[in-house]
Amino acid sequence: MAAAAARRPLHLRAHAKVNLGLEVLGTRADGYHELRTLFQTISIHDDIVLRAQGSEITIRCDHPAVPTDETNLAVRAARDLRRFAGVAHGVAITLTKRIPVAGGLGGGSSNAAAVLMGLDRLWRLGLGPAGLHPLARRLGADVPYFLLGGTALGLGRGDEVYPLWRQLRAEVVVVDPERPLSTAAVFRRLDASLTARDGTNRIFRFISSDLAGHGTAFPILSNDLERPALEEAPDLAARVDLIRGILIREGALMASLSGSGASYFGLFDDPSRARKAQLRLVARGLKAWRGRTLSLDQYRRLWAPPARGRARGVGQGRSGQHGDHRRQGHPGR
Ligand code: C5P
Repeated sequence: MAAAAARRPLHLRAHAKVNLGLEVLGTRADGYHELRTLFQTISIHDDIVLRAQGSEITIRCDHPAVPTDETNLAVRAARDLRRFAGVAHGVAITLTKRIPVAGGLGGGSSNAAAVLMGLDRLWRLGLGPAGLHPLARRLGADVPYFLLGGTALGLGRGDEVYPLWRQLRAEVVVVDPERPLSTAAVFRRLDASLTARDGTNRIFRFISSDLAGHGTAFPILSNDLERPALEEAPDLAARVDLIRGILIREGALMASLSGSGASYFGLFDDPSRARKAQLRLVARGLKAWRGRTLSLDQYRRLWAPPARGRARGVGQGRSGQHGDHRRQGHPGR
């Protein structure tokens, strides 16, 4: 019975994130940058299926830009976990990509975290998010955040993650300018720039203003990587102006580049405004779709063990209860 359960394929969702704000505080001895960022998971997601197999770890993906060898972060996650746990199991990973690749939405990191959490269950290791954290941070700076999800503060390289007391609930419109950007290249541009960073504690000011009940202070937030990203991809400037203009005109609470880009997003408190913004963007030939923020609790529920006799949680992740973006006009690929 137990062996049969372990052989059943596991269906997972690997959600995207946006950075509501991102401050770069300086360079670190390890070559990374010291950050302060506000992460937010959104309903847009990739689909992952994990199937137990002999001793091989393999991956198949429908997206031509995603590597299917051991350089794939999801494969590295499976290998690292296998070594760490001292087991010899194999797994066949099937990845259906919806999150734009190299778009600043954390797709690769989210895939890796989902594989860690999924295999923790499939292989019955019982490590949980805390036990998986050291493995996650070795895979990439954003991976630990995806063990947690929701609205969270990221410090250090972005891998010290603290959930916020208030979890944002908003509509999100995401635009993919279809211009992949290398995170490392954007950080290098930032280092080469002569402009001093302002160090105004915008993210802490945002959090304290929110906690004090002064309403949301979205205009405080900004992304220090936006300027170097546009220097790295000057061809994007006109498109970004257009996208930002439409989002703001349609009433976005904030509009910003996510991470190192080039995906752009707007947050809305009104679904009809979000819908209008999405339609305007699509009418201008842009790839845009609508989703919702995903809170810490909603994210946790994705990973809750399936209740007996009820179809929910990991393994039955097809019910759409967490704002399945396909129902909301996601164009797919
Ligand atoms: O950790 P990850 O592989 O996702 O990071 C990609 C690249 O982004 C790093 O190689 C580094 O150049 C840059 N980065 C950084 N500081 C961070 C996060 C990422 O310099 N805190």
